[in-house]
Amino acid sequence: MKKPINVLLTSLIILFIFSCTSVDKKQNDVAATTTIDDSYKPAAAADAGNPMNNIGIGPVKERFALGAIDANKATIGKDIFEAKCTSCHKFTSDKYVGPGLLGVTERRTPEWIVNQITNPAEMTEKDPIAHELLETYLTQMTNQNITVEQAKNILEYFRQQDAAHKAQ
Ligand code: HEC
Repeated sequence: MKKPINVLLTSLIILFIFSCTSVDKKQNDVAATTTIDDSYKPAAAADAGNPMNNIGIGPVKERFALGAIDANKATIGKDIFEAKCTSCHKFTSDKYVGPGLLGVTERRTPEWIVNQITNPAEMTEKDPIAHELLETYLTQMTNQNITVEQAKNILEYFRQQDAAHKAQ
């Protein structure tokens, strides 16, 4: 009676060890595959993961160079902002109807900001960040018929505000 039990136990132990090693091997394989995938991530996937790589969807399709902050443009941008945006946004970290815009130039690319301002409906529909904001704020930002040039002036105002806040 003893012998078959021993045989059974031994085979169980062998089976156990075998299954453990094969699980280990599997996990290693998965880890190895993940590492390789990471280094070959397509641009689109990388964009979704890092907001500072995401230029959004809209009239701006390529990254543009930013120079020093242009005070004249910032003044024009401030006027537009106060006329068309302050009903929903404050330039603080407090949310209002929409997000508080303090620090926006540090968490979004300039292109993404211009696309959000000029093309808010398509942005909340297709861009992962804007879509998430819509789910948080439960309000669709309205299209204020802002041209790209005007949006770039607003961007200068945002950059000026963020720089001033940082210097404090
Ligand atoms: C009717 C309210 C409303 C108006 C008016 C409005 N917004 Fe918005 N805005 C929102 C909401 C809500 C969001 C979050 C995204 C969404 O749900 O559309 C948002 C998002 C944004 C974002 C992204 C903020 C972030 O944290 O990433 C920027 C930038 C922005 N708006 C700028 C503007 C500018 C500039 C104007 C004026 C031209 C403006 N908005 C007018 C409601 C508004």
